[in-house]
Amino acid sequence: MSKTKEVRNAETKSVEDYKLILREFARDPFSVATVCPSSPFLARHLASSLALSDAKVVVELGPGTGALTEAVLPRLRPGVRFLAVERNPALCAAWRKRYPKYDVIEGSVADLAEICKDQGIDSVDCVVSGLPWPSFDAELQEAGLSGVHRVLSSGGQMASFGYHIGLLMPGSQRYYKLLAKYFSTVERLRWEWRNLPPAFVTRCTK
Ligand SMILES: C[S@@+](CC[C@H](N)C(=O)[O-])C[C@H]1O[C@@H](n2cnc3c(N)ncnc32)[C@H](O)[C@@H]1O
Repeated sequence: MSKTKEVRNAETKSVEDYKLILREFARDPFSVATVCPSSPFLARHLASSLALSDAKVVVELGPGTGALTEAVLPRLRPGVRFLAVERNPALCAAWRKRYPKYDVIEGSVADLAEICKDQGIDSVDCVVSGLPWPSFDAELQEAGLSGVHRVLSSGGQMASFGYHIGLLMPGSQRYYKLLAKYFSTVERLRWEWRNLPPAFVTRCTK
């Protein structure tokens, strides 16, 4: 494929992603919680915060259109088991079409332990989270984080991102308290300003 055609294809893909996220945000704002996909800068920052090149099993939560996936997959060794879990049916279908070689389950993080069991996964080394944890209610935060804790190996890590505006939400304080309950280390990494809105990465180690 020529360079110009490649660039045009990438631009079309990106416009389509923006339209899809915006449409799904209008349908379900608390669950999608963003009007555009994460930037490649944030995706690389988050992916490089995890030991992905040593991982045998990696799970991505809330992959949306695949903005984080794009930075995660090239860092994985051949033969790594990669599983995505996406609740939104339209986003799940779009992700499946883009990454046909990888598994995506249409389901909720609340059922993560059962989903992993059904998929024959006993233990996960890295969890890449694109989930809007602060906008979840208390029950979903607890179910989701206890599920992540159950499937993670000892020393396993989860990286997630948050927005400044999210820190002001009541669900945010509850979420960070729960992280301290479930993980032995919780690190707030640097802000990535080249994202709409600017975002920071949190890395949690079991
Ligand atoms: C902020 S968007 C992030 C999308 C993408 N990871 C990115 O960074 O551009 C949140 C994503 O989490 C998904 N999501 C929300 N609640 C979920 C849940 N309970 N289980 C799985 N996915 C969920 C949404 O459908 C959406 O795709």
